[in-house]
Amino acid sequence: MATIDSDEAPQAADARSQLAASRRDSDITSRLQKARSLTIELLREITDDFSDERKIGQGAYGKVYVGQLENGEDIAVKILHNNMPGNDDAQFMREFENLMRLDHDNIVRLVGYCYETQHEPMQYLGRTIFIEKTYRALCFEFLENGSLQKHLSDESNGLDWNTRYKIIKGAWEGLKHLHQGFDEPIYHLDLKPDNILLDNNMLPKLADFGMSKLFNDQQTMITESPIGTFGYLPIEFLHGKIVSSKLYIFSLGVVMIKTIGGPEAHSRSVEMSHEEFLDLVHANWRNRMKTACAYGTLEAYCEQVKICTEIALSCMDIDRHKRPNIVDIIDQLNDTETMINTVIQGLVMVADEWRLGESRSGHRKPRNC
Ligand SMILES: Nc1ncnc2c1ncn2[C@@H]1O[C@H](COP(=O)(O)OP(=O)(O)O)[C@@H](O)[C@H]1O
Ligand SMILES: [Mg+2]
Repeated sequence: MATIDSDEAPQAADARSQLAASRRDSDITSRLQKARSLTIELLREITDDFSDERKIGQGAYGKVYVGQLENGEDIAVKILHNNMPGNDDAQFMREFENLMRLDHDNIVRLVGYCYETQHEPMQYLGRTIFIEKTYRALCFEFLENGSLQKHLSDESNGLDWNTRYKIIKGAWEGLKHLHQGFDEPIYHLDLKPDNILLDNNMLPKLADFGMSKLFNDQQTMITESPIGTFGYLPIEFLHGKIVSSKLYIFSLGVVMIKTIGGPEAHSRSVEMSHEEFLDLVHANWRNRMKTACAYGTLEAYCEQVKICTEIALSCMDIDRHKRPNIVDIIDQLNDTETMINTVIQGLVMVADEWRLGESRSGHRKPRNC
């Protein structure tokens, strides 16, 4: 991978990355001691020998099964494909190492791992030989609601606005932790709805760190490695193989637009002007929320829809320099929450005053909310 756009002197960059590596080593060492090693025998047992009934997902790098540990905890077992030794190992190590470092509400928790080599007998040219077989599996907390992909729908049905907002906010919080929680940010590089999982409260958790890498924050890279998924990659990567923090801002922008408006929302947003798209999404949500919203809060929620849609569109700007940064995005989202809370508090105060008036005068006054 080549580095471009870096203002840092090479010696300073080397020193910085050595320091970061030694901090990382001590950080990971303590966590490695806590990692639980699970045998392939145990994983076979709890997944009924990796049966189809227990299969909950399949991605490019492995199949995922649900099983229950002896303490009653459900876990998701991702058993990696076993066909290309070098590649499989790199994939496994990247996901394992990065997940080991992560501890955040919006990032899937690694429960344990299996890395086991067995020698299995087989018949070859009339002789019995032993072949080496390596099993690699990563075990995560099981997230009952599966991937966000399963829940995407347009504005007229499916998840309500508050749930969609919670997913959007949590996904950005998870990304912020990857970006700011360490000396060297972790670049996820494959953000898409299949890789965002939902717990029983619909709290989102970023998952699938198989392509994730550590980078110096200042850098923009050119890479020939295959990364990401078509549809979630920005033009500078498709045309110039450029990777920077603005790549995953774009990817999460696409996820965000699909969370707001459903699986077709990204293509719809490309086909119309930004104003037309904003008006359409806004009108659709106003229509859905007008009966569900508590009295007096509709305008505030519609404003939140509008701001979220604008953020998503700006994340997908063709010019990567014009895309917002994570901190600004989270600040903007926080502002919408403050706005809604202020409206709700105002309504509660008005309601309290009326109630007080009612009890003093002894008769009922008409209520507005
Ligand atoms: N912890 C989990 N809880 C519930 N479902 C999961 C979990 N991990 C993965 N899955 C399911 O399996 C699918 C593939 O998992 P993922 O980690 O993305 O593998 P891959 O690297 O092969 O894409 C996910 O999209 C999801 O549907
Ligand atoms: Mg995946």
